[in-house]
Amino acid sequence: MPAPDPLYTVCDGHLCFDGADLVELAETRETPFFVFSERRLRVNVEALLGSFRSVHAATEVFYASKACSNLWFLGVVRDAGANVEVNAGGELDKALAAGFKPRQIVFNGVAKTKAEIERAVACGVRAFMVDSLHELGRIGEVAAALDEVATVAPRIDVHVPTMTHPGLETAHGGKAGIDRDDAVAAFRLAAGHPNLDPAGMHLHIGSQITSVEPYRQAVAAALDIVAEVEAAAGIRLRFLNAGGGFAVPYREAPVACHPSDYFCSLLGAADYAAVVGGELAARRPDLELFLEPGRSIAATTAVLVARVENEKTKGRRDADGRRIGDERWVTVDAGFNTLLEHTNYHWYYRTIVASRPGDEADAEFRLAGPLCDGGDVFAGDADSAYRWFPAATTVGDVVAFLDAGAYTLEMMNPYNARPTAAAFAVTAAGELVQIRRRDTADDLAAHDVVPGAR
Ligand SMILES: Cc1ncc(COP(=O)(O)O)c(C=O)c1O
Repeated sequence: MPAPDPLYTVCDGHLCFDGADLVELAETRETPFFVFSERRLRVNVEALLGSFRSVHAATEVFYASKACSNLWFLGVVRDAGANVEVNAGGELDKALAAGFKPRQIVFNGVAKTKAEIERAVACGVRAFMVDSLHELGRIGEVAAALDEVATVAPRIDVHVPTMTHPGLETAHGGKAGIDRDDAVAAFRLAAGHPNLDPAGMHLHIGSQITSVEPYRQAVAAALDIVAEVEAAAGIRLRFLNAGGGFAVPYREAPVACHPSDYFCSLLGAADYAAVVGGELAARRPDLELFLEPGRSIAATTAVLVARVENEKTKGRRDADGRRIGDERWVTVDAGFNTLLEHTNYHWYYRTIVASRPGDEADAEFRLAGPLCDGGDVFAGDADSAYRWFPAATTVGDVVAFLDAGAYTLEMMNPYNARPTAAAFAVTAAGELVQIRRRDTADDLAAHDVVPGAR
């Protein structure tokens, strides 16, 4: 078994995660299910807070709850000392339900409704990250109607390229944020509005950014813009929100990474802190630093446990249809209904056959999900079409998908009327608790309305 992470061990011949025997759990619980680790979650939050504060003391982490907004998870994040970023009214409700105070919440998003803004102003969130001049006007109108002053931080597209997946890049043209040429207009508008307090500026360059260079460029560009808007609008900002995007090493313990391989990362919190915090500390030590990391807090906190339900051998054929070899397939009970990013971003999640962790992974398999789509086939190891599993892998084996804590519970769906998965957590005290229930058969039909039926 590869040893990617000390939380994974072998106990009684099975793969264990933070001490929980994944195969034993799969004997008494319906697969697929997730297992989270509270200890890992706390370590991830503390690493970010500690690394950044040692470079720039005035740093606050607003965990991006879009990565995982499970209420238990949010409670641990809060308890570990982070604040929270919400992207919609539903996330605001969940953050409040998890015990965050409104002053610990920033409201982001690229299409906030009037009703969402009303709720957020009324409850007194710390600040709005604002996506357009139109939205600034809308927040101003709502705040005026409620006789409140809303703190705002226009989100500026600093136009910095990254080498992440194109679908995850957010500050190089594209839909998010205000064009940098309109930054002065945005801050002037906010400064001239009696119900808006332009206290900060926001940027977010994307997700899974495996190099610090884009951050260096982005923060430098942002600080230039800060100086420009302060002079033009006659204001002094109090914070810079540098967003999230810190990468997770989805590939196995790498020794070197090609810059264009965004599943490979050698960076830790301290590397990002040195660049982002360092730039701020050098140029504008008076500005508070806000961060919005999601993936780097959530990804390594969970494993997805699935079971092999089908197997077959099919011909491998050349362009003329001639059989040139064999291909072994195994199909597990989790597909893009459970790990949506595996198809929408062709995400790579490492896998280990949890029921055979001691066996050498010496055979090639195509690994498929259970859905009816031909696209529900997992990417292979090392950019191939194949996973390396022990040759004896067969129906009934348990397969663990590693680093499955970010953007997974959030994106699950009941496609093919397959129940969304349950989730469990190993608490800091080593106890196993349930933190999400699996859909029931009734859940799957709960939203359907048959007109006229009683
Ligand atoms: C505005 C904003 N902030 C923060 C994040 C969190 O990014 P990540 O999960 O990569 O840290 C995202 C996601 O891309 C985002 O869109």
